[in-house]
Parts: sequence; C-alpha cells; structure tokens
Amino acid sequence: MEPTQLHYRGGFGWFLLTHFHQFIHGHSWSSPSFWKSVLGKDRFSANEIPDLTGKVAIVTGANKGIGYHTALELASHGCSKVFLACRSRERAMAAIKSIKQELWLRGLAPLPNYDDDGREIQDTDEDQQQLQFLELDLADIRQCQDAAKTFLAKGLPLHILINNAGIGTERTGLIDGIECHMAVNHFGPFAFTLPLVDRLIESQPSRVVIVSSIAHECSVKGGINFERMNDPTLTDNHYVKYAQSKTANILFAKALARRLVGHKVYVNAVHPGVVDTAIFDHIGAVTSPTFGRIFLKLNRLCAMTAERGALTQLYCATSPEIEGENFRGQWFIPIGYRHSPKKQLDRHELQDRLWEYSEQLVASRLANDGKNFLTQ
Ligand SMILES: NC(=O)c1ccc[n+]([C@@H]2O[C@H](COP(=O)([O-])OP(=O)(O)OC[C@H]3O[C@@H](n4cnc5c(N)ncnc54)[C@H](OP(=O)(O)O)[C@@H]3O)[C@@H](O)[C@H]2O)c1
Repeated sequence: MEPTQLHYRGGFGWFLLTHFHQFIHGHSWSSPSFWKSVLGKDRFSANEIPDLTGKVAIVTGANKGIGYHTALELASHGCSKVFLACRSRERAMAAIKSIKQELWLRGLAPLPNYDDDGREIQDTDEDQQQLQFLELDLADIRQCQDAAKTFLAKGLPLHILINNAGIGTERTGLIDGIECHMAVNHFGPFAFTLPLVDRLIESQPSRVVIVSSIAHECSVKGGINFERMNDPTLTDNHYVKYAQSKTANILFAKALARRLVGHKVYVNAVHPGVVDTAIFDHIGAVTSPTFGRIFLKLNRLCAMTAERGALTQLYCATSPEIEGENFRGQWFIPIGYRHSPKKQLDRHELQDRLWEYSEQLVASRLANDGKNFLTQ
C-alpha cells in the first residue's frame, strides 16, 4: 500500500475491541499530532535509512515480529554488525538465516552455502559475521547483566541499541517476585542497558530506542503502582499491567535521556503502531477463548504489517533528523511523528522515582552491594 494509506488501517476495530479504556481516556483522540499520524503521510520510509557502514547495533527480540524487520533493515543498509539479542539461539539463528536470504534476494549479499542438514557453512568465524546472536533473557536480571558483559567483552563500539523485545498479555504472574510484564518489559531492559551506557558514550554519536506503546495511556492512576506493583493479590487486568510496563518504558527513556544530556547519545521512545505480530497470541487465555479468537482475527485483518511497524524505531535509530533536531527523551508514533505521551510522564520526580526503584530492585536481584550503575 502507498504511504498515504490510513496506516492505523482498521484502527477502529482495534479501539473498539481492546482500546475501549483508551477511548475513555481520550488523550490521543484530542491531539492534532495523533490525527496527523493517522491521516497524514508517513514521515519516514526504509529508503531513507542512511548508509550504516561501520555502525554496530543491538536489537532485542529480533527473532520475530517488529524486531526481526528492524534487524533486517539495519543489515540491509550496511550496518557492520547487528546483534540479535534473543533468549533462544535456535530462533535467533533461524532469523539470521532468513535475513541472509532476504539480503541475497535484495542483491546485497551472496547466497550462503548450506550443508545437508541446512546449517550454514561459514568461511569466517562467528565474530566476523555481520549478523550475530547475543543470548539475552529479559526475565532473568542476572543474565541481562551477563549479556551486557558478553557484548562489552567483544571490545566493539555500540552505536544503536534498540530495546524492542517485550511480552503482551501473559498469564505468568510473577517472575522472581516481579510482576511479569514489568520484569520482561522494564526491569530486564533496565538491567541490560545500564552497563552498556559507557560504551554508548564512548561510541557517540549513538542512539537508544525504547519500544513502548500507546497502551501506556491505560496504565494505573499515577502511571506506576509502586506500592503494590508486585503484589500477587492485585486484581488489575493483564492489559493494565502491560500498560504499566509500557509507561515504565517512557519514564526510563526520559530519565536516561536527561542523564545523558551532555553527550551525543540520543534516547527516545516509540509506539510502533498496532501491528500484526505474535504479541497478543495469549489474549484468549487471559480474557476468554471466544474474545481471543475474534480479537486475533480482527487484529490480523486490521493491523499494520511488522515491516511497517519497524519503521518508527528505525527512524529513531537512524534518521539524521534525530541529531539535527536534538531529539532526546521524545516519544514517536507511526510513522516518524513526534507526539506527547501522557503529561504526567514529563514529571522528573516520577521518572527518578522509577529509576531509583529499578536500581534497588535490580541490585537486590543481583544481591550486590546496591551500588548505582549510573550516577546523575
Ligand atoms: N504488536 C503491536 O501491536 C505492538 C504495539 C505497541 C507496542 N508493541 C511493542 O513492540 C515490541 C515488539 O513486539 P512485537 O509486536 O514484535 O511482538 P512479538 O512478535 O511477540 O516479538 C516479541 C519479541 O520479544 C522477545 N521476548 C519475549 N520475552 C523475552 C525474554 N524474556 N527475553 C528476551 N526476549 C524476549 C520474543 O522472543 P521469543 O520468540 O523467544 O518469545 C520476540 O523476539 C514490544 O516491546 C511490544 O510491547 C507492539
């Protein structure tokens, strides 16, 4: 479809079914920039990604969905190294195989050779490859720190970090005593990102993109329920818990951007759009099977493709406009529009409260001496 399409195509069905709560909030509906993004032309396309030769990027959750297409476009535009930071080597290697085939189809790389079992025959060792697997399980804070250390030990610069991985409506409850959406969507990325900050500073100009969601508008009153976030008896529904974790993403992006203001490290948050991916596959299990079936069918019909869903984060990760306009701690919606998240997220006090809470929680899980990873 052409760039002028209603790229929230079918957004009506989405809002009716799952964003009813958001509809009541009315925040986006009353904003001109939101309507511009719905009705206007795309502000960015994959063709506008500059040459990324020499750049090193990490994309979390790159084995499928929006993250996969993000990694594909970075590699297509010459990014020298793209790390797919994923929890499963098998799934990451399958994604790497598929990206390489796509690069070949685009005439950008030779077709890899495979042995009889379908394994690629490599003529260089893994460290030399453009596309590499980095083991990262965001549900395990210690492993997040180990993943960052593994990357740092390679001695490479880091120009682009895209914290894309996430879970939607899950049944899991608590992971290591932490509400599961907050664990995977916020505390894991926090624990992974902070040890990489010095490397991002050394490699500047560099970018951090934190993938949030417009669903943040449906979070609890006050944005974050610090008192009862990890209380297993809390009866908030799963969507509200997801929304709280997506609120945390924006607060983290804004807090990190403020801490890096003296450096050319540009940190921003995005809503990728309503995208047809696997993220809400479990919705039937946490609502009802019938609702789940209808929802998934409508979502499949109405939502954007993952290719288009990747564009706003690619814009934040690569567009010269970000540096040119000195965009820091901003929030972007499809495709490449700057927009305002909920007003309360601009409060430094709230950003810092989450930062301190996250530092303490991460430190407690690492059972270290509670030292700050990054001081103001
Ligand atoms: N789709 C939408 O409509 C939409 C809307 C707004 C925001 N978003 C955001 O966009 C981002 C990408 O989502 P998506 O739609 O592309 O979903 P997706 O297709 O389900 O992909 C999610 C990715 O996150 C990875 N992941 C999940 N748990 C992980 C863990 N513990 N450790 C490491 N990686 C983990 C998954 O890996 P596995 O394959 O191993 O599970 C997968 O690679 C998420 O942050 C989401 O909140 C999506």
